[in-house]
Amino acid sequence: MSTDAIVVLKEDHKEIRRLFREFEKAGDRAEARKGKLVEQIIENLTVHTYLENEVMYPEVRKLLPDLEDDVLESYEEHHVADVLCVELAGMSPDDERFDAKTTVLIESVTHHIEEEEQEWFPKVREGVGRKQLQEIGARMVELRKDAPRKPSQPSALKKAVDAVTA
Ligand SMILES: [Fe+2]
Ligand SMILES: [Fe+2]
Repeated sequence: MSTDAIVVLKEDHKEIRRLFREFEKAGDRAEARKGKLVEQIIENLTVHTYLENEVMYPEVRKLLPDLEDDVLESYEEHHVADVLCVELAGMSPDDERFDAKTTVLIESVTHHIEEEEQEWFPKVREGVGRKQLQEIGARMVELRKDAPRKPSQPSALKKAVDAVTA
């Protein structure tokens, strides 16, 4: 299996988008199902954010200083998603704000994924060598085993705090 960093991250995006579509298709009253889906969305986003924040973004910032603004914007977009995930994790699907908050999460993460895939990952592909992208991807594959799966886990919280205070 390829460990190319961009391929690894796009695989994650694909699964996250699939869960988003499942949520959108679920009926108004499918509360149990939507609760389960949001749990999965939160888990997938927590892991993915961890890998990007810990490995991909710092590497890109170092290797391609021209993309610094994109990376900084990305940290902020992840931070917004983190806040929504923390709130959703503590919320019941029958709360009147549950669907609305999930919809805002879906909209903002979809926008963020589009920016990554269409705007700045292509520049990373152009500016960073194949071998180096393989190495970055391999580090993410390795780190995934220990990545936090819930926003309340200390490593996820630390990452959220670092993103704000670094
Ligand atoms: Fe991202
Ligand atoms: Fe991403």
